[in-house]
Amino acid sequence: MKPLTITSRLEVYDTPEELPEDVQRLMETAAEAREAAYAPYSSFKVGAAILLENKEVIIGSNQENASYPSGLCAERTAVYAAGAKYPDVPILKVVITARSMRHQVVSPVPPCGACRQALVEYEVKQDSPMEVYFMGETGKVVKADSVKDLLPLVFDNSCL
Ligand code: THU
Repeated sequence: MKPLTITSRLEVYDTPEELPEDVQRLMETAAEAREAAYAPYSSFKVGAAILLENKEVIIGSNQENASYPSGLCAERTAVYAAGAKYPDVPILKVVITARSMRHQVVSPVPPCGACRQALVEYEVKQDSPMEVYFMGETGKVVKADSVKDLLPLVFDNSCL
């Protein structure tokens, strides 16, 4: 037996104001996008803003469904919209914010496992890392330099 230790390096910012200006603007865009979430079942609204290499910003928000599994998270709504509109333009940054209609979300809300898997597909496809930033409604922001820092032991096309 050989132990396998996996480490990820993330950065934690106390407030969005500590982030570079362009990321602050993206976080504002994600917060605006969040308000278009359709979340009557969870009362949990998530917004995502994706910056592409061509400087376009693509937004997404969670869209729920009475048949719960038919709904989709904000991150996948956004990344699939980006892939559909600009299939050959690399994604530089993915910025995410979440709030609840029931309580204040003050801790960073990371993308769910399925969204990490969806995001890493595009990171592998474009062969360059995308930065991921996520936060709650207020408070700290976490930055990952690559989706792979959020998804150790990634399953990708190299496994097939
Ligand atoms: N949600 C997202 O939009 N992104 C995530 O990464 C986690 C969860 C949504 C799905 C559902 O509409 C609500 O948040 C509660 O899980």
